[in-house]
Amino acid sequence: MSQDLHINGERLLKRLTDMAQIGATPKGGVCRVALSDEDKAGRDLFIQWCQGAGCTVTVDKIGNIFARRAGIKDDLPAIMAGSHLDSQPTGGKFDGVYGVLAALEAIETLNDEGSSTSHPVEIVSWTNEEGARFAPGLTGSGVYAGVFDLEHGLSRADKNGLTIGEELQRIGYAGEAPVGSRPVKAAFEIHIEQGPILEAEGITIGVVSGVQGMRWYDLIFEGQEAHAGTTPMERRRDPVASAIRVLQRIYELNEKHAPEGRATFGDFKVEPGSRNTVPGRLMVTLDYRHPDAAVLEAVDGEMRSIMERECRAAGIEGRVEEIWHMPPVSFAPECMSAVQRAADKLGYASMEMNSGAGHDAMYLAQIVPTGMIFVPCENGLSHNELENTQPEDLVAGGDVLLHTILELANP
Ligand code: GLV
Ligand code: MN
Ligand code: MN
Repeated sequence: MSQDLHINGERLLKRLTDMAQIGATPKGGVCRVALSDEDKAGRDLFIQWCQGAGCTVTVDKIGNIFARRAGIKDDLPAIMAGSHLDSQPTGGKFDGVYGVLAALEAIETLNDEGSSTSHPVEIVSWTNEEGARFAPGLTGSGVYAGVFDLEHGLSRADKNGLTIGEELQRIGYAGEAPVGSRPVKAAFEIHIEQGPILEAEGITIGVVSGVQGMRWYDLIFEGQEAHAGTTPMERRRDPVASAIRVLQRIYELNEKHAPEGRATFGDFKVEPGSRNTVPGRLMVTLDYRHPDAAVLEAVDGEMRSIMERECRAAGIEGRVEEIWHMPPVSFAPECMSAVQRAADKLGYASMEMNSGAGHDAMYLAQIVPTGMIFVPCENGLSHNELENTQPEDLVAGGDVLLHTILELANP
């Protein structure tokens, strides 16, 4: 297909703007947390657009949405492209949704051209990528890839005890289709980079080679509830005091693995949560990432001994619960080279890069040849309402996705 074929950039940008109205936040971001009413509204709008584009829509039992454009040889395996529509609680307008709507735009463009493909093309929107409400994330793609079984996925609960299964029922997205049964030749996910590299280098397209490894933990500190006014400091078993020491040691440990190591304590739950009671319990989440599996393993061991040492010294019951573990992932060389060829053909500057963020493509890569495309992200800021990408970069990425899909769909 000629390099003169381009997506309709205006339509893509308009749809991104329209989708961002759903769950819009005052600072210009979105809150469309998985399986909320806003997530349902986003899904409904997406399906309406897909049906308008003539696609056949299927929802599976974990709520993943597939929109299929038939191929000339419709029994050939599909070329799949997509991402997620759920967001962080204070998320941006592009994380996830760009990958879903760019895939839809590729299909719309083929429709406008009256152009058929040998292989079918399928858009996908995966359930609960973010893991902000139901931990861990990547639930829809994880069940699809057979990493978690369906029951495990459906039984993940939020802080109020509501499960994915219950919430899928409530919003009407507990589908009928079996999970993971779709023949796929190759899968692609386009995403904003969510980091500063492409912008700093002045490059439009990231050809993603893989994703760094990540581990999610709950660090639990149990002490003793006591009166805030009467209990002398030296008589307290204060879980917060121990946690402060442990967290500081973990930051120091991470410095040994700079600059790649990333330690984030993103959520704290203190109990009973009363201003004038020394807390009895504290739970702190740790998200630890590094591109090297050996470093992840070493940090795991050292972090556990820090926890053990500090808590024992303070008479605190300390526990580490690993709730998720994802080793580093490499994408398929043939998918990377297809993305590279599309970028070259269209004349966009590109570079190979690793992803710091997690993506559904990590699980897909375990079962089908998978690739990712990145576009720049303003100030490298993501998981933030101010997240932004220049319109011309969003359109360029859409063009690269279109041409990548076309190469694989018309071999
Ligand atoms: C996905 O949003 C991640 O946490 O990397
Ligand atoms: Mn994302
Ligand atoms: Mn995200």
